[in-house]
Amino acid sequence: RDKVSIGLLGLGVVGSGVIKLIENHQEKLVHQLGCEVSVKSVLVRSLDKTRNVEVDRTFLTTNPDDIINDPEIDVIVEVMGGIEETYQYILNAFANKKHVVTANKDLVALYGTNLEAAARKNKCDFYYEASVAGGIPILRGIADGLSSDRIQKVMGIVNGTTNYILTKMSNEGFSYLDALKEAQELGFAEADPTADVEGLDAARKMAILGRLAFSTDVALEDVEVTGIKSLELEDLQYGDKFGYAMKLIGYAQSKDHQIEVSVQPTLLSKEHPLADVKNEYNAVYVYGEAVGETMFYGPGAGSLPTATAVVSDLVTVIKNMRLGVSGTHSLEARFKKELRSADQ
Ligand code: NDP
Ligand code: HSE
Repeated sequence: RDKVSIGLLGLGVVGSGVIKLIENHQEKLVHQLGCEVSVKSVLVRSLDKTRNVEVDRTFLTTNPDDIINDPEIDVIVEVMGGIEETYQYILNAFANKKHVVTANKDLVALYGTNLEAAARKNKCDFYYEASVAGGIPILRGIADGLSSDRIQKVMGIVNGTTNYILTKMSNEGFSYLDALKEAQELGFAEADPTADVEGLDAARKMAILGRLAFSTDVALEDVEVTGIKSLELEDLQYGDKFGYAMKLIGYAQSKDHQIEVSVQPTLLSKEHPLADVKNEYNAVYVYGEAVGETMFYGPGAGSLPTATAVVSDLVTVIKNMRLGVSGTHSLEARFKKELRSADQ
């Protein structure tokens, strides 16, 4: 096969980055994969909207079936957001033997286990690297890079919008609303930023990280969450005066044979490596029994950084297609779990 065709669900901040990256890095993609990668159709809500990427209008559709039922499309890239409707689209895509890549943490945190099962049943790939910490390859870092270790603790800044707001308020005296407005204009915030500022977006990402790090399911309702909405400029300035930075920190750790996951505003000493993570940047600290301390750092939101994670997943999918295998991020975790229950 000399071409792999992609169906894109969504052409907003991330979707337009995906189109740009596939176009701009086509030569590298062809070099590594030995085939062309092309976007065949794109699902949008509005056909008339002005886009910040050039696309042939005839590629756009408002009917998801045009993509999900198209026999020429091999891989669906879901960057539209939403939960229930999107879940159905992806299940239908697997039933039609299409591989899926998504950036949607809301969906993966809630239905990730079911989606992985559906992908396995249909021998399809399901990858979601962009769902946690944007451009940082943290899921691969945990699921592959640290797969031989026993992870004891994961701690990090996993929401770009709130980190942007806290940085602007602490360092430049912005009001909360002005800082939020800028984060929205830069494309970091969710379409409805409530999930960002109330800590739910970070909670969803920590649930996904906890699941991968500890090879166990983490229910969203078990994650204790406090957001940043009630923080005052004075709180931040007071902390700053005494050498502390306020950060929204997610924790996932193993305690007394249980996994505890939480998200809360935390005053960190400025000596702490996470205290120096600014603007939309994210950082995830992972402590493994054998490796000790590791830290993953990079842009946690934004068009091209997030698109990098999405298109790298796409590369994995196409390599898998060539090898005749399929996979998901937590396949190994699941395999270990199945082995454990078979042992009992
Ligand atoms: P945007 O709101 O910028 O874009 C969403 C796109 O999906 C739009 O093109 C919209 O169409 C389309 N869309 C949404 N709902 C529907 C629907 N029901 N039917 C058809 N088309 C639809 O979102 P983002 O690009 O920011 O985010 C996309 C996903 O990526 C989300 O899951 C988000 O959480 C995740 N994500 C975002 C990051 C970021 O930095 N922004 C980083 C990491 C993950 P139209 O343009 O016509 O309105
Ligand atoms: N709204 C999210 C954030 C996008 O600000 O981190 C990246 O997942």
